[in-house]
Amino acid sequence: MARWCNSSTSQHLLLLLFVAILSSFQTFEASKEPKLSNLQFYMHDIVIGPNPTAIRVAPSQPLNFSWTDPIAAMFGSIYVIDDPLTATPDPKSTVVGRAQGIYAMTSLGHEFSLLMTLTYSFISGPYNGSSISVVGRNPVMRDVREMPIIGGTGVFQLARGYCLAHTHSSDGADAVIWYNVTVLHY
Ligand SMILES: *[C@@H]1O[C@H](CO)[C@@H](O)[C@H](O)[C@H]1NC(C)=O
Ligand SMILES: *[C@@H]1O[C@H](CO)[C@@H](O)[C@H](O)[C@H]1NC(C)=O
Ligand SMILES: *[C@@H]1O[C@H](CO)[C@@H](O)[C@H](O)[C@H]1NC(C)=O
Repeated sequence: MARWCNSSTSQHLLLLLFVAILSSFQTFEASKEPKLSNLQFYMHDIVIGPNPTAIRVAPSQPLNFSWTDPIAAMFGSIYVIDDPLTATPDPKSTVVGRAQGIYAMTSLGHEFSLLMTLTYSFISGPYNGSSISVVGRNPVMRDVREMPIIGGTGVFQLARGYCLAHTHSSDGADAVIWYNVTVLHY
């Protein structure tokens, strides 16, 4: 049997290192209790009209295959967005933050879906100045889409959680999306 380490000194060092790492985790856990927060807001994604908040930056022209599939025809499109987040579906209601980042059309067929790579930064209430980062698949035609929260800043440092997104209303490519966010943070 291969033995990668048979020196007892090395084993002791490894054990010490392990204990040190373990106790540093315990110190961190003890000093900060995780909190579970729920946030709800509406995201206004405006693609059409004189004041769009979502701009297509990459066309889907380079692919050369039959365009009979309408989903595949949009494959490769990339949008940069700066969407307002409001307290109610009314675009004139209080702006609580902004969703900024990139989404891309990543489906060659079967089901229309986007890859979302977005930051949601908040400008009011207890989350003012804090943000969450969301990366995940968004099959936009489904009633409810779930996307993971992979981190955050401010009160959302070390955050993890998930967003449930539901299209509240749409008008062509423009949409108002309801977000129900569950986030664990310290
Ligand atoms: C697209 O592909 C077809 C078949 O593979 C080929 O005949 C045609 O020249 C291609 N068109 C372009 C613009 O590359
Ligand atoms: C949010 O924080 C900024 C910077 O600290 C402050 O200027 C602003 O008034 C705050 N907004 C609200 C609505 O609390
Ligand atoms: C929001 O999501 C949470 C967690 O999934 C769920 O318990 C809650 O019922 C949802 N809120 C609404 C209003 O649907």
